[in-house]
Amino acid sequence: MDIDREIERLKGMHDLPGHIAVIMAGNGRWAKKRRLPRIAGHKAGRESVRVTVRTCARLGIPALSLYTFSLENWQRPSKEVKALMHFLGTVLRSEYLELKDNNIRLRAMGRLDLLPGGTKKTLDETIASLSSNDGMILNLCLSYGGRAEIVDAARKIAAAAASGGLDPGSLDEDTFAGYLYSPDIPDPDLLIRTSGEMRISNFLLWQLAYTEIVVTDVLWPDFREEHIFAAIDEYLGRERRFGDIGGRGEK
Ligand code: IPE
Ligand code: IPE
Ligand code: MG
Repeated sequence: MDIDREIERLKGMHDLPGHIAVIMAGNGRWAKKRRLPRIAGHKAGRESVRVTVRTCARLGIPALSLYTFSLENWQRPSKEVKALMHFLGTVLRSEYLELKDNNIRLRAMGRLDLLPGGTKKTLDETIASLSSNDGMILNLCLSYGGRAEIVDAARKIAAAAASGGLDPGSLDEDTFAGYLYSPDIPDPDLLIRTSGEMRISNFLLWQLAYTEIVVTDVLWPDFREEHIFAAIDEYLGRERRFGDIGGRGEK
C-alpha cells in the first residue's frame, strides 16, 4: 500500500473526523499467542501508537484520544501495573523529540493524582515542554474512567452551586460539559476499538453519545496505517443522523 497516496486521497475528503478516540485493546492476547508475558504485548503496542499518532497528524486530524490506562486497570496484578507505569515514562521521554517535530500538543486526562510520582513528573514535564506546539492534540486518557469523570464534574458543579457561583436551575448540557476534564476538545466523531470486543469499557461515556463506532478484529500491536485508513473510510460511508431522519428521508 502506498501510504503517502492514501494520505493524499483522504486529505481531499470532506468531513474527516475532527476527533478520533481509540480503545487500544488486545496487547495481552497478542503476547499470549506468542507465549510471551503480557508486558511484551504492551511494548509491541508502542509502534502502533507511533504509527497512529504520526498518521493522524499527517491527515490533519485536530485531536486524537488514546485510552492508555483505565481506572479499572489499577486492579491488574501489581507486576503488570508497575511495568506499564515504568514503560509509559520511558516512552514519553524517548518520543519527546518526535512529538516536538510533529508539532503535537500533549494532554492527559483522568485521575492523574493516582499515578506514581516519577511517571506524573515525566508526564508534566513532557506536556510543559511541548506547550508551544500548536498542531494535533494528543490526549492520553490515563487512570481514566468515564463514570469517574462525570462524578468529578458533578462534584465541581455541586461545589459551585453551594458557594452561590452557579444557579442549579441554569444547569444545562453545555454547562455540564464545561466541567468535564477537557471541555475544549470536541466530542469524538469516530471511536476505534481493536481486538474485536464490542464494548466501551468506561471510556468517554458522556462524549461518545453520537460517536460513530468502528471495531476491528486486529490486535492493537498489529494495528497499522491500513487499519486507520479502513476505519476512516468506514466512518466516511456512515450517515450520521443525530436522531433526525437523515438526508434521504422526507421532511
Ligand atoms: C490494552 O490491552 C492495553 C491496556 C489495557 C493497558 P490489554 O492489556 O487489555 O490486552 P488484552 O485485551 O487483555 O488482550
Ligand atoms: C480498556 O481495555 C482500557 C484500555 C484500553 C486502556 P480493557 O482491557 O481494560 O477493558 P476490558 O476489560 O476488555 O473491558
Ligand atoms: Mg483488554
